[in-house]
Amino acid sequence: MARTNNNENFPQYLRVMTHIQDKIRDGEWTYGKKLPSQRALAEEFNVNRTTIVHALEELKASGILESKPGSGTYVSNQNWSDISNQVIDWDTISQYSFHAGSPRTIRKINDLETDATMIQLGKGELHSSLFPTKTFRESIANVSESFHLSGYDDGKGDFHLREVLSFRLQEQGIHYSSSSILIVSGALQALQLISMGLLQQGTYVYLEQPSYIYSLQVFRSLGMHLKGIPYVSGELDVRYLENQIRANKKPSMLYLNPTFQNPTTKTMSWKNKQEVLTLANAYQLPIIEDDIYRDIWLDREAEPSLASMDDGDHVLRIGSFSKTVAPSLRIGWIAGPEDVIQKLGDLRMQTDYGSSALPQIAMHDFLVSGKYDEHLSFLRKQVLKRRDFMVQLVSLHLGDWVEWEVPEGGMFLWLTFSSDVNVKKLFTEAIRRGVLINPGYIYSPYNNQNVRLSYVSSSFQKIEAGIIILREIIKAMERSNYRSCFS
Ligand SMILES: Cc1ncc(COP(=O)(O)O)c(C=O)c1O
Repeated sequence: MARTNNNENFPQYLRVMTHIQDKIRDGEWTYGKKLPSQRALAEEFNVNRTTIVHALEELKASGILESKPGSGTYVSNQNWSDISNQVIDWDTISQYSFHAGSPRTIRKINDLETDATMIQLGKGELHSSLFPTKTFRESIANVSESFHLSGYDDGKGDFHLREVLSFRLQEQGIHYSSSSILIVSGALQALQLISMGLLQQGTYVYLEQPSYIYSLQVFRSLGMHLKGIPYVSGELDVRYLENQIRANKKPSMLYLNPTFQNPTTKTMSWKNKQEVLTLANAYQLPIIEDDIYRDIWLDREAEPSLASMDDGDHVLRIGSFSKTVAPSLRIGWIAGPEDVIQKLGDLRMQTDYGSSALPQIAMHDFLVSGKYDEHLSFLRKQVLKRRDFMVQLVSLHLGDWVEWEVPEGGMFLWLTFSSDVNVKKLFTEAIRRGVLINPGYIYSPYNNQNVRLSYVSSSFQKIEAGIIILREIIKAMERSNYRSCFS
C-alpha cells in the first residue's frame, strides 16, 4: 500500500522516492522490474522530468535502482533485503514457467500502449471517443433493477446472451443454437481454450503469414508449431498449404482471420474460401475462423464467413465485442458443434468457472434494445472518416517511401516501406519522439519492411502530428545515410 506523503512542504522528489520505495517494500515491484518511463512518472506525479531524474538518481546512488544503458531503469537486487522482507527471486523462478513471456518488442509495445503521453498510431483499439459509453450506461441502468447476485453457472455464459448471439449468427447464415455457443472472456481466451482443450502437443497450427498470432505466445506456449502459409493480397496459398499437410503428416489445425485480417486488413475472396473448405474436407482439417473485425465494414458489407459456407463441421467461429464496443468488457464467444462447445465449456469450468455475469447481462440489453446496431452505424461512419483522413495524410507525407492498399474494413493501414527505410530504426526513433507504431516483423519474420498503423486509436490531431513526426524521422534517416556515404 502506498504511503505517499501529501504534505505540500514535502519536497516533490522525496515524494516520488517514497512512492517507489513503498512499491518495492510492499513487494509490488520486485527485483528486475522495469520502471515506467520518466515521462510517464512525471505525468503520474504531476511534476517535471527534472524532479523525476533527481529522485531516480538518489535511488540509484543508494543501490535500490540501477540503469541499463539504452534500456531503462530497473529495480536492483543490491540492498534488496534492506528495504523488503521479500527474498524470493521471482524473476529467476518465472524463467522456468511453462508459458514463455512475450518477446521484448511486444512487451515494449504493451507497456507503451497504456502510456497516455504517447501518440498511439499502432494500437488495435478504438479511441475513447468511439466507445458507446453513454448508451452502454443506459443498458447497465436498465438491467440493474432486475439484477440478482447468483452462484456459479454451467460455464457456458448467460443463456439470454447466447440466445441473441445465436439469432444474429442465423442471420449471417450460421445455424447454431445457444447450446452451440460458449461465452468467453474475449477472443484471446477462445484461442487459449481451443489450444488447451482440443489440440495435442506437437500439432501444426497453419496460419496466414503475416498474422496477429505471431505476436502472441498462445499455441506456442502449449507446444504447438506455427506454420505460416503465404498470404498475399488476401489470397491464401492453398496449394502450399496442401503440400505442407502432406509433408508434415502430424495433427493439424488451420487458424484464419479471413475478414479484414489483423494486420493486413485484407479479406479472403469467396473462391479462396471455397478452396480452403474443399481442402479441409479432403484432409479432415479443423479450422478456427477468428472473425472479430466483421462488423467494422466500411465500403460494403463483409463477405460471407467460412462458417456460413461450411456444410461439414470443420469451422469453430470466434467473435468478440472488443473491437466494436470496448476491450474492457471482455466478452467474446465461440460457436461450433455442440459436443466441442460442451468440452470447451467443461474446460472453462476448470479454468475460472465462466465469465462475470453483469457485463453479459448488460451486453444482452445493449443488443436487444437495438443500441448495438445504432452504435455500429455511427461507428462505421466515424471509422470511415478516420480511414480516409489517414490515407490522405500517408499519401501526402509518406507517399515517397510507402505503398499500401486502402482497407475496406477493420482498423489498420498496412504499409510497405521501400528498402531504403530501416523500419526497426523508425520504430525505436518514433518511440523516442513519443509515437508508437507496430512494426511488421512482430507479425512474421518476413515482414521487416511493413508497419501497421491504426486509424481508430487516436484523435484526428494526433494522427496528423504522428504522421508528420514519422516523416521527419525518415527525412533525418535519409540525411544521415547520405552523409555516411560521403564520410
Ligand atoms: C485477430 C484477433 N483475434 C483476437 C484478438 C483478441 O481479442 P479480444 O480482446 O476479444 O480477446 C485480437 C486483438 O487484437 C485480434 O486482432
